[in-house]
Amino acid sequence: MTVQVSVSLLSANPACLGEDLARIHKSGSDFVHIDVMDGHYVPNMTFGPDIIMALKKDSSLPFDVHLMVEDADRFIEMYAPCSDMITIHPETTKHLHRSLAFIRSKGKKVGVSLNPGTSISLIEPIFHMLDLVLVMSVNPGFGGQQFIPESLEKIKAIKDLSRLKNHPVEISVDGGINDVTAGPVVKAGATILVSGSYLFKQKEMKEGVQRLKKSGSL
Ligand code: DX5
Ligand code: ZN
Repeated sequence: MTVQVSVSLLSANPACLGEDLARIHKSGSDFVHIDVMDGHYVPNMTFGPDIIMALKKDSSLPFDVHLMVEDADRFIEMYAPCSDMITIHPETTKHLHRSLAFIRSKGKKVGVSLNPGTSISLIEPIFHMLDLVLVMSVNPGFGGQQFIPESLEKIKAIKDLSRLKNHPVEISVDGGINDVTAGPVVKAGATILVSGSYLFKQKEMKEGVQRLKKSGSL
């Protein structure tokens, strides 16, 4: 089984989003990872729903929308029309079960994201509702940060939990993914690699994507 790649639009040039989206399409990426930040839950702000909707009209790839916002339910409502999968952080909703059911009711794939300081015990009770667990391997808010090595243990623990619960999930890893960190991450159990700054720095994004996809077999 080869790992899938989700190129993060956060590292795109904001003045050329359409061109950079075309670059992602040509790269062989499996998804487009869209980081939505509200300036409250994280100290950065990004794409509004109109921008994402305009890009979606030009895209054949699934949009993997990662909400880093204080009021998850309000943003699920706003971003559902321009998303294929929606991932929320458990700290951003008063009622996690209800918010996940809300994402499902919109016909979207359901994801939960765990920060480096967040325990996986938070997702045990709702594990059966998930399609995706997004392991943050940096603190959320910015691209270009260094991979936190303790994330590997968390990936393994989620893989074990998935076996224990007999419920398969995608394990996506987000933050500091490059040709050095991808190998150990895939070995630990990741099935999707989110990568922004590493891939946008490549002259040929396609070669970077291929290198990440091969990382599991190294
Ligand atoms: C960070 C975002 C990431 C970001 C990763 O809060 O969730 O998706 O784009 O960027 P890199 O790959 O540069 O660490
Ligand atoms: Zn992200």
